[in-house]
Amino acid sequence: MEVGKTTRELGALEAGDSLLNFVGPLGVPSEIEKYGTVVCIGGGVGIAPLYPIVRGLKQAGNKVISILGARNESLLMLEDEVEKYSDDLFITTDDGSKGQKGFVSDVLKKLIDDGNKIDMVMAIGPVIMMKVVADVTRPYKIKTLVSLNPIMVDGTGMCGGCRVSVGDETKFACVDGPEFDGHLVDFDNLMLRNRRFVCEEEEACRLADVK
Ligand code: FES
Repeated sequence: MEVGKTTRELGALEAGDSLLNFVGPLGVPSEIEKYGTVVCIGGGVGIAPLYPIVRGLKQAGNKVISILGARNESLLMLEDEVEKYSDDLFITTDDGSKGQKGFVSDVLKKLIDDGNKIDMVMAIGPVIMMKVVADVTRPYKIKTLVSLNPIMVDGTGMCGGCRVSVGDETKFACVDGPEFDGHLVDFDNLMLRNRRFVCEEEEACRLADVK
């Protein structure tokens, strides 16, 4: 998804073009183990990193219920791939263009209200989505992992740009994460920090003449 100067420049590359460097994978691997029943929630581009986790959790013997959501149908992806490794798949769109009109958290709440025993929830997507998911599971003490994507610079733990507050601790998402206990993350602080360079980003787009 092209959202700023760099991603627009990446989007302008043609087949055969190249990048100077590409570093990864970074951070700590996902906790793939047998929990029992897991609910995997992906929002927008978060569906991409969610997919291998869905597959891994299924292969580890879990019952996997997947919920994919996006603002509209065109922003959904990998539905067939996720479905292949899911016992149940629910789709939501904000505008109702595909699946249920509403939010992934609505489906999660209904699953809980219907009495489904859920052992773990994994959520990857917009910060506000992960915050709401954590709010839904908190009263039920359902283990909830969220995958954070704060602004990163070096990705190797040196700059501190990606720091997030988790419980009483400051963590670096690039080396300590990206997955953290959703009930401990300070999402409001994360949302603020993610908007830190909005003006500079607009200026960079203007200077580079990318729309
Ligand atoms: S991106 Fe620099 S410390 Fe994480």
